[in-house]
Amino acid sequence: MVKICCIGAGYVGGPTMAVIALKCPSIEVAVVDISVSRINAWNSDELPIYEPGLDEVVKQCRGKNLFFSTNVEKHVSEADIIFVSVNTPTKTRGLGAGKAADLTYWESAARMIADVSKSDKIVVEKSTVPVKTAEAIEKILSHNSKGIKYQILSNPEFLAEGTAIEDLFKPDRVLIGGRDTPGGQKAINALRDVYAHWVPQDRIICTNIWSAELSKLAANAFLAQRISSVNAMSALCEATGANVTQVSHAVGRDTRIGPKFLNASVGFGGSCFQKDILNLVYICECNGLTEVANYWKQVIKVNDYQKSRFVNRVVSSMFNTVSGKKIAILGFAFKKDTGDTRETPAIDVCKGLLGDKANLSIYDPQVTMDQIQKDLSMNKFDWDHPIHLQPMSPTTVKQVSVAWDAYEAAKDAHGLCILTEWDEFRALDYQKIFNSMQKPAFVFDGRNIVDVKKLREIGFIVYSIGKPLDSWLKDMPAMA
Ligand code: UDX
Ligand code: UDX
Ligand code: ADP
Repeated sequence: MVKICCIGAGYVGGPTMAVIALKCPSIEVAVVDISVSRINAWNSDELPIYEPGLDEVVKQCRGKNLFFSTNVEKHVSEADIIFVSVNTPTKTRGLGAGKAADLTYWESAARMIADVSKSDKIVVEKSTVPVKTAEAIEKILSHNSKGIKYQILSNPEFLAEGTAIEDLFKPDRVLIGGRDTPGGQKAINALRDVYAHWVPQDRIICTNIWSAELSKLAANAFLAQRISSVNAMSALCEATGANVTQVSHAVGRDTRIGPKFLNASVGFGGSCFQKDILNLVYICECNGLTEVANYWKQVIKVNDYQKSRFVNRVVSSMFNTVSGKKIAILGFAFKKDTGDTRETPAIDVCKGLLGDKANLSIYDPQVTMDQIQKDLSMNKFDWDHPIHLQPMSPTTVKQVSVAWDAYEAAKDAHGLCILTEWDEFRALDYQKIFNSMQKPAFVFDGRNIVDVKKLREIGFIVYSIGKPLDSWLKDMPAMA
């Protein structure tokens, strides 16, 4: 029986291993983590992450061929294939601060593998890491090898949160990078055999290690670039009277471009896009490619611009001040169908409004009060570092409350901002919300989900990203 061990029971490791266990009954899969609370949650009825369909998959396999454990060393030493899916935060100090990935967790995982291994291993890079990380890991392992042979593979994960199980069941492709040596090819084939249990052969792409590592950064950079492109267009739409939904529909019908990832929004978020682009920028800079670095940096800058543009729109519409006004925030997660808030645009938008002294009432169906408070008190890039938590300042505590539902959040509010496209926000009784709000009542739709015409008929002043502006908004002073 092949034994797989995955180090890191997070958003990537957990769902990926659960699906491997489901699809490969003949393989024993152990997911290990140093976080006791995370492992306890994986072994309970309340899984540590929300992902549609994940519960069922875990229930079917847990205790049979899927195990969650904190006994990292035991499972690593017994495994044939070790996936490494630990966090790779952005460095906040030292060389490459603000851009480079901090490989501390990776390095300690590699050293631990070298310490406890008693047989040959295939080590699979699963978390997104800078190009050439595999080479560094290979060096650590081979210099501490005690005669044991290691093969390093890069097998980046392309799943998106909210659709993780669907993406894992039917991946567009599985990418496996390995050494072009007989040992390397043998390792590639061993991993290919695992995926071949359910993924058609023509969707399994095999490359060299560095192509696999770079393809992951490149794919995320391309996806993020599309969103920043359409978001840049949304600003121009507002200035000209064009409608961004119509523009993206027309553009997306060109099959060379395609319709996906052209939804204008308040900005992209999530643990990957910004981090991976910053990594890419850093790699370019280290290789002396300043122009290329600047090109990709611009994708991040447009994203930051989109978030601050949204805040400016809210403040300028409401007579240039939100001081002391209640503003309802609907949605805090970085997109629908997940409770994940890493790099969510809601953090920057809320911080911007708090900076203008607004009182926020926040509602998200999957995000807890504790998480919201943590996010609003953290510094940039700190979410992936376990410590560094600052308590929320007493004034911020006073300014932020968390509501049980959208109606409670909106009651007595002057404005309502939609920051995540949860389906339930489409189906709200907006007349009821209007009746309970201060007047004039504003809706700022950062995800283009409301029926603008209907809301205007109810009496709202509506701003929707990239849509023709309400006459009210047109009359307001130009934004920075
Ligand atoms: C373009 C648009 O495709 C067409 O829809 C529009 O009506 C007019 O402009 P055209 O300029 O004739 O058409 O050629 P196109 O095939 O789009 O190529 C434009 C340039 O991009 C060429 O220099 C081509 O060599 C280059 N290109 C295209 C690449 O370098 N790589 C590619 O993958 C595709
Ligand atoms: C992304 C990649 O899609 C996935 O392949 C990779 O493995 C990890 O990073 P994820 O971050 O889970 O996945 O979510 P994704 O669906 O890509 O959305 C990222 C952000 O872009 C979200 O904040 C989303 O709301 C935003 N977005 C997406 C838009 O604003 N407009 C769009 O058209 C699409
Ligand atoms: P991702 O989104 O890439 O899955 P997460 O941050 O959700 O990232 O998960 C990474 C997990 O890796 C965390 O639960 C963390 O506790 C775990 N981890 C980090 N270092 C180690 C290590 N040396 N051994 C075991 N687990 C680790």
